[in-house]
Amino acid sequence: MTLTPRTSTTLTQFLIEQRRRYPDASGNFNALILDVALACKAIAKSVAYGALADLLGNHPDEGGASVNVQGETQKKLDVLSNDLFIRMNEWGGHLAGMASEEMTHPYPIPSHLPKGKYLLVFDPLDGSSNIDVNVSVGSIFSVLRAPAHVQGGADLTETDFLQPGCQQVAAGYALYGPTTMLVLTVGTGVNGFTLDPVMGEFMLTHPDLQVPADTQEFAINASNARFWEAPVKRYVDECLAGRTGPRGKDFNMRWIASMVAEAHRILMRGGVFMYPRDTKDLGKAGRLRLLYEANPVGMIMEQAGGRASTGRAPMLTVQPQELHQRIALVFGSRNEVERIERYHAEPVSFRDETPLFAERSLFRD
Ligand code: AHG
Ligand code: MN
Ligand code: MN
Repeated sequence: MTLTPRTSTTLTQFLIEQRRRYPDASGNFNALILDVALACKAIAKSVAYGALADLLGNHPDEGGASVNVQGETQKKLDVLSNDLFIRMNEWGGHLAGMASEEMTHPYPIPSHLPKGKYLLVFDPLDGSSNIDVNVSVGSIFSVLRAPAHVQGGADLTETDFLQPGCQQVAAGYALYGPTTMLVLTVGTGVNGFTLDPVMGEFMLTHPDLQVPADTQEFAINASNARFWEAPVKRYVDECLAGRTGPRGKDFNMRWIASMVAEAHRILMRGGVFMYPRDTKDLGKAGRLRLLYEANPVGMIMEQAGGRASTGRAPMLTVQPQELHQRIALVFGSRNEVERIERYHAEPVSFRDETPLFAERSLFRD
C-alpha cells in the first residue's frame, strides 16, 4: 500500500504562513513553538521505548520514589520529560523562564544563555498513572509574555507567571497515542498535526478543528460521586437517566485518567470533561492545576468553539494566586458546559444542602 500523505504542510510551513499575517514578527515565536515540538518528539520517542529503555516505573530517590511539589510520586518519564522540555527550550533565546508541574519553583534561563520575551509553562507528562499500563499520555504547554520588567532584565519571580489564561499567546498539547499528535493554537483557531515517524516532521492533518456544540458523552471520575456538589450530581444523574429523564436522550461515559486524551476525544467528536471541586479534600479547590493544565486546554477549547469553565466562571478569566494552584475544571461542548454553569448558578435548595432530604441517587452511598 503506497502511503500517499494527505498533506504536505509541515508545522514549520504552517507557522511561517501564520507569521505572514504579522509582517513585523521576528520569528522568535515560531522558533519557540518548534523547540516545544522538538521536546514533544523526544518525549514521544522515550514513551515509545518504555520498558525497552528501562523507562517505566517510579523515579528512584533515596528511600524509594521521588515526590513532586504536588505530593505525587514521580514516574521516571515525568522527570525525563521535564528534563527534555528544559534542555530543548532553554538555549534558543526565546524564553525568560519556565515553570512546570514537576518543578517547585520557576526555572530562570541560565545566565550564560540569551533570554527572550516569552514564558513557557508545561505539564511535561499528563496522565502519568497510565504509563506503566501502556495507555495514552500527553504533554501540555502554555506560552505567556514575560512582563516588561523581566524583559528589561529584572530577575524572574513566581509572580511573573500568575497571568490569567486570556493572556496566553499560544497553547497546546502533544498526545502520545496510536499516533503522536500535536494540537496547537496561536490564537487563530486550532490545528492538529500528526508526527510522520519516518520524516520526524509534524504534518498538518486536522486543520481548523471545531468542538461540536452538543454531545451525548461525558467524562468524570465517578468514584468521587459521593463527594460531588449538588449541581454536578444533578448533571450526571440527568445524563444517567438518559432518554427516560429530563435530557430525553441516552449518554455514554468515558474516563481515561489522561486529561490530554479526554481533551482530544472531545475536540474530535464532542463531549464534556468534569473534574469538579468536591468535598473529598476540602484543602484542594480541584484536582487539576490552573496554569499548565486548565488554562492551555481551556484556550484550545475556546479557540475551537467549545467552552472551559470552573463551573462558576470562565476558566480563562481566573486570576492565578499561586504557581501550582489547583482548580475545578469543566470543558468541552459549549451547550453542555453552559448547562453545567447554569446548574451552578441556580440557588442551592435546602434539600441539596441537607442530605436527609436529598433524592436517592445511583451514586449516593
Ligand atoms: P498528571 O499525570 O499530570 O498528574 O495528571 C493527571 C490528571 C489528569 O490527566 C487526569 O484527568 C486526572 O489527573 C486523573 O485523575 P484521577 O486519577 O483522580 O482520575
Ligand atoms: Mn497533568
Ligand atoms: Mn504531569
